[in-house]
Amino acid sequence: MGVRQRQLWVFYNNDTLKCCNQLFFVEMARDLILGLNQYTHSAAVCVLDANGKMLFCGEKERVSRKKNDGGDTADLVEHALNAVGAELSDVRMVCANNHLFRIDRFHDSIDWSTALFQYRSSYVSDFNLLPGIERLELSHHLAHAWSALPYAPFDNGIIVVADGMGSTLHEMQMPGENYFTDFGLEKHPQFHEVERKDEAFGWREGESSFLFEGGNIQQLFKRFIPEPSPSLLYNYGFENMSSLGALYSRVSSHIFADWNACGKVMGMAPLASEWNKDYEHQPILSGSLDDLVIDWQRLRDAANPNQWADEDNRGAYASLAADMQSDLETVMLEKLQDLRAKTGAKNLIFVGGVALNSTLNGRIHREAGFEQVFIPHYPGDQGLAVGCAAFAYAQLNNQQLPAQQQALSPYSGVEYTDNDTAAALDDWQDWIEEADLEDTDVADVVAQAINDGQIVAWFDGRSEFGPRALGNRSILADPRRGEMVEHINSAIKKREAYRPFAPSVLEEKVSEWFDDASPSPYMSLTVQARADKAEQIPAVVHADGSSRIQTLSENDNAKYHDLVQRFEKLSGVPMLLNTSFNIKQEPIVETPADAMKSFLDSDLDLLVINGRLFQQRKFPDMLTSSMIPLAAPNFTAESVSNSEGDNMSVRVMVRGETFDIEQIELGLLEVCNGENTLHDITDYFKENWDVEQDTIMSHLQGLYSRCLVSIIIPQE
Ligand SMILES: [Fe+2]
Repeated sequence: MGVRQRQLWVFYNNDTLKCCNQLFFVEMARDLILGLNQYTHSAAVCVLDANGKMLFCGEKERVSRKKNDGGDTADLVEHALNAVGAELSDVRMVCANNHLFRIDRFHDSIDWSTALFQYRSSYVSDFNLLPGIERLELSHHLAHAWSALPYAPFDNGIIVVADGMGSTLHEMQMPGENYFTDFGLEKHPQFHEVERKDEAFGWREGESSFLFEGGNIQQLFKRFIPEPSPSLLYNYGFENMSSLGALYSRVSSHIFADWNACGKVMGMAPLASEWNKDYEHQPILSGSLDDLVIDWQRLRDAANPNQWADEDNRGAYASLAADMQSDLETVMLEKLQDLRAKTGAKNLIFVGGVALNSTLNGRIHREAGFEQVFIPHYPGDQGLAVGCAAFAYAQLNNQQLPAQQQALSPYSGVEYTDNDTAAALDDWQDWIEEADLEDTDVADVVAQAINDGQIVAWFDGRSEFGPRALGNRSILADPRRGEMVEHINSAIKKREAYRPFAPSVLEEKVSEWFDDASPSPYMSLTVQARADKAEQIPAVVHADGSSRIQTLSENDNAKYHDLVQRFEKLSGVPMLLNTSFNIKQEPIVETPADAMKSFLDSDLDLLVINGRLFQQRKFPDMLTSSMIPLAAPNFTAESVSNSEGDNMSVRVMVRGETFDIEQIELGLLEVCNGENTLHDITDYFKENWDVEQDTIMSHLQGLYSRCLVSIIIPQE
């Protein structure tokens, strides 16, 4: 027993987290279980309680604000324990995965590696190493499998894992204390492993399949892929690997100079015929997954790598994307049908990064022949944290699975309070103002605004886990307005103009608007919009007539469902355009402060945070000479001149961000000290530099739009 002064997270109705600062009594250790994806991209944590209830899931990127962030998990674990009101001493067991190398051996030498300045000091933080806590380690594809099997809406079937690369065969074959791999599983009578016949520096998991009944798992299929390059090459020579995920990623790297832009490739594939009038399918992959033939020459000879900006390349890029997408679908569907025929399995779990491919997923639902298909909202490597936690729970509880929730909720992050919103507003109130709703319901205001063509950032409740925003950290717009696609892509998300948007559709109305629509609560599959409806919703239908739908029920998210219903009453359309609330390729916003910052940095019209409505303060229409412009506090500046003394560039650093500004703007910032009035400032620039008042006003407005200057309006 003890008393601690710390943050308290109180559970309301057993599943809502609220935070307040006060004294509370700690009764006993809580026997929490931590699952971790550690040291590689998409680092993540999952916290289960002693009964297997999922308390929290989160990704490092949301805390560090670096997309797909990897490395150590010290800050993330501290964040997660704060979120559930726990301390390290409350943790009973930790289970982790890292596909690049074995963590137990890495930890053996981490003190010395850090001493050699190879790693940051956070690597040796107790929150990262978790000393004294019983520790398990799970191989990569087995962790993917465990991420979904306790949470599927069925208790038997096959699991298929497909991603870029999993664990190395060499390490999987080396037993280690508390290290678990496929090799500890029984083999199904139909088990098949693809023969390893190439020359290789090593072998890695490419695709795996398991058959499961409850928590009993058997090996069904394995394809190890060769490492054709020495592992010391950047990212282990990933670009030369032959898993379906790695091959797709190679196309992504070729077009976008980004191995992890596979969603952009998928979105581009339907444009091949439009961008290349002579397009005809030329296979890159042929044969079955058991004996896959890869046209490496085609991949190596593909022209103009990493030159997306040159529009002349787009026909060839889209052709490559379409060929790879089509071949992926063919190979994967053939394998799934083969596994179903061999086992008679009725149900499928599909996980791994390839299961983010919603076009493939749509075809699997329609064509693979399974009665039920389950793809969690975290099929990528963030989901490994869930798999590790579920596996550890089973180890502690005689192989029982964690308690299955009614429906797996994607809203498993932190719910921020009014205090958090107030603190954020303190920082941004010079540029943001709260609207007085009086007796109006915020949902009515937002539905009307969207109906009128406005774009609204909607922040509500606990944050989502996984790559999709599903109504709690979303940007919402009118799906009837085709012009929204280019506007949101370019002015708000700052991304490629062709990229499609997805609708959140009322589940009860989905079949009126889409063909063969299976439930898709996590926005994980595409379906065809009905021919008689597609033209009514151009902003959420792609070039090939498909839409990546989120089916939305009241049980999934009552407030968001209600909002869509209100929009339907105004528009007759039971859906909203829903894209994740992030800008400039940043991670999805996590906190009210992130939300306000992104709101101010974009062309969004309205921001709603937990039912409170905000709008940007406009630069005053009428400036009076007594107004006082004030520079952002604590800015620092860097001015670069050439040898002739001519100014080359000016940068200011404020709030941890860097802005390029003009030299005159630096001069303005220096005199906006909170004492000089507008009149003083314009006079000063006119007398000393012969700069006209209009020029000063124009620069002042530019500084205001970047939140580098605020305007104090004196009280009369
Ligand atoms: Fe993976």
